[in-house]
Amino acid sequence: MARSVLEVSDLVAGYEPGVPIVRGASIRVDEGEIVVVLGPNGAGKSSFIKAIAGLVPVTGGSVTLDGNAITALPAHQMVRRGLAFVPQTENVFPLMTVEDNLKVSGGVLAKADVPGRIAEMYRLFPDLEARRRTPAGNLSGGQRQMVAVARALMVRPRLLMLDEPSAGLSPKFVSMVFRMLADVRKAGVTILLVEQNAKAALAIGDRAYVLIEGRQAHEGPAASLWQDPVVAELYLGQRNHATARGEQP
Ligand SMILES: Nc1ncnc2c1ncn2[C@@H]1O[C@H](COP(=O)(O)OP(=O)(O)O)[C@@H](O)[C@H]1O
Ligand SMILES: [Mg+2]
Repeated sequence: MARSVLEVSDLVAGYEPGVPIVRGASIRVDEGEIVVVLGPNGAGKSSFIKAIAGLVPVTGGSVTLDGNAITALPAHQMVRRGLAFVPQTENVFPLMTVEDNLKVSGGVLAKADVPGRIAEMYRLFPDLEARRRTPAGNLSGGQRQMVAVARALMVRPRLLMLDEPSAGLSPKFVSMVFRMLADVRKAGVTILLVEQNAKAALAIGDRAYVLIEGRQAHEGPAASLWQDPVVAELYLGQRNHATARGEQP
């Protein structure tokens, strides 16, 4: 059996006391997988992934990473435990060069390891090496997401979590971001991905969960979840439903 990296059980979390937004959500991510969390707007996807990352107060349930409890640890400790989170926005320092963005993330590594790790990031993302002296804010949206992912990978996390990395990008950059994530997985990184772009996310994902009103409503292999017309129609939208029937979107 595959080894589980992340286990989230009955997680309850929210911003105000007595108003849970995440209402008993459970998911599992196994080593080497890309697991996708889908769901309508406002379902609590961002709150869920932020609660796992220690950025939203947790009032119930548990989170374990490699079997170790990390429930509700402060976010900076999560990074040291091996959990890397790429938020949806403000995930790079726009005025700093690409290389300085990577150096800042390397701050928790031993100093001597930083140049080698930056070189590894450039091997994984050759586009970034070509732009190492460019301020991150001057890059295309797709390249900026590459910087954000490279920053997260600097510390060799056990799990990379991303909140809607394709949001706001033009179609060309959306496909670039998903190709990049497929490459990152090939490099041996386990990924938990929250997405609105169900079609593209399920194309690279192994398993998926649909989050409705703060808890997982459906779970399955990415391919068959996509083919389930009820899931497609109810939760992924008409356009995606058409694709599920084999029509062109
Ligand atoms: N910082 C916040 N403070 C209070 N409520 C919030 C905050 N962020 C999100 N919410 C609420 O949590 C609910 C779920 O939002 P969110 O987790 O962003 O959903 P999704 O990412 O699925 O669109 C929404 O009702 C939203 O208004
Ligand atoms: Mg969101």
